Amino acid sequence: MFVTFEGIEGSGKSTALNALTGALRAGGERVFVTREPGGCDLGLALRALLLDARKGPLAPRAELFLFLADRAQHVAHAIRPALEAGEVVFCDRFTDSTLAYQGYARGIDMAELRRLNAMATENLAPDLTLLFDLPVETGLARAAHRNRVEGTIESEGRFDAEKTAFHQKVRDGYLRLAAGEPARFVIIDASAPADAVVRQCRMALAERAGRRA
Ligand code: TYD
Repeated sequence: MFVTFEGIEGSGKSTALNALTGALRAGGERVFVTREPGGCDLGLALRALLLDARKGPLAPRAELFLFLADRAQHVAHAIRPALEAGEVVFCDRFTDSTLAYQGYARGIDMAELRRLNAMATENLAPDLTLLFDLPVETGLARAAHRNRVEGTIESEGRFDAEKTAFHQKVRDGYLRLAAGEPARFVIIDASAPADAVVRQCRMALAERAGRRA
């Protein structure tokens, strides 16, 4: 089963992903955990280029192709081999990030993005996508807090520095994607306390696993 985790900055998806992974592994499940950008060696180099705002402005299409290059390599060398080995794959961001950020927020044509995503992934689509949804102000406040605590290069990354209106477009975009594919998406109320968020995810996973069995 291929599960992707999506949401705006500060939605808590990575925290929930870690907790879920722990729970599944404790139950004997083999879980391969990865993320985009940066889920493979090439991706790590691309990630540094993509997220370091100090390298100057990136043209939206240059940014897009870096994300797609990362994805193509990541699918071919990490995600597909793990799925073929029978592992559950948890991926922090995937194709829907491109649709929400480069499409809804940056304004690149959606049909074109869908074609490029299909090309980059050779038509691999998630079985389940957990969308961590919460008000933009709450997410940005959490992300700002995390950045102060961690103080990494990425903390002043390109996307964290975008205006609230940009993140609002990302959130609205995600909700439209979810409305368009209700069989794949489950919307998680990410403003709930952390344990309640993880509970919602476990229910969604169990429900999906049951449907596949
Ligand atoms: P990251 O530090 O991984 O953010 P988060 O912890 O919120 O997941 O940074 C990834 C950033 O890249 C994030 O702002 C979303 C953006 N992104 C895109 O714009 N398009 C994409 O296709 C992907 C995978 C990520």
